[in-house]
Amino acid sequence: MAEVVIAESREVASALAAEAILHQIRSKPKFTLGVATGDTPVAMYRDLASLAEEFGIDLQNLNAFALDEYVGLEPTDPRSFSSALQENFVKVLGLDPAQLHVPQVAACNLSTSGRDFERSIAAAGGIDLQILGIGSNGHIGFNEPGSSLASRTRVTMLADTTRRDNAVFFAESEDVPQHSVSQGIGTILEARHLVLLAFGVKKESAIAAAIEGPVTSACPGSAIQLHPWVTVFLDRESANSLQEKDYYLGAWENKMESLSWRLSP
Ligand code: PGA
Repeated sequence: MAEVVIAESREVASALAAEAILHQIRSKPKFTLGVATGDTPVAMYRDLASLAEEFGIDLQNLNAFALDEYVGLEPTDPRSFSSALQENFVKVLGLDPAQLHVPQVAACNLSTSGRDFERSIAAAGGIDLQILGIGSNGHIGFNEPGSSLASRTRVTMLADTTRRDNAVFFAESEDVPQHSVSQGIGTILEARHLVLLAFGVKKESAIAAAIEGPVTSACPGSAIQLHPWVTVFLDRESANSLQEKDYYLGAWENKMESLSWRLSP
């Protein structure tokens, strides 16, 4: 069963997630982090930067791999995930832009981009910890409902629900790209540790399906149940439909006594 942390607010959940992630980063001299785009992890990246500074943790050897990228936008387009991650992750943490790897999405690269990205991940020794958000339709990365649980990095087609959810970042809803290059669910499951963050009422049903529903390609997030080491950080709203909420809260309170991943000075 996933380790589920239900915090009183998204701010507290972000701070706890940052602490857990930094604890892992510190455990290895050359750490490979899988990073997610979207609104959800932005505050956590800021907390990660403050904690790294506070504890004097050097991030210059960190290797980062994006989960996905839109097809059809230049990397310099502010709406691209490449730009968003440079802004919200690389700059915030004071990294070298070259420490972040994003799937190639130029038309001439699409047939080989997935394989090349998987090769780069393998050359970096595999992903030590993959940060995930979840879509309101249960997607992880741009693996939309129906994606094979064994899928690898490849071109995917965005679901209408996803294009509607992401339309806020575009002037016109028809400007939202139709395709992405996304790590596959099989790729994500090879990371050594998964950390999923979800906040707000909009994620309530996707979270219930992912954590307590059957493992099914109808809810790609449910694939986390196949992974031996998953930590999920939620606020109260996103956790609202979980049946075993009292159990998770109790388990979490017990764990507060002996948190293996709290940072120590
Ligand atoms: P969000 O997106 O963080 O902007 O809610 C998450 C996702 O779609 O995976």
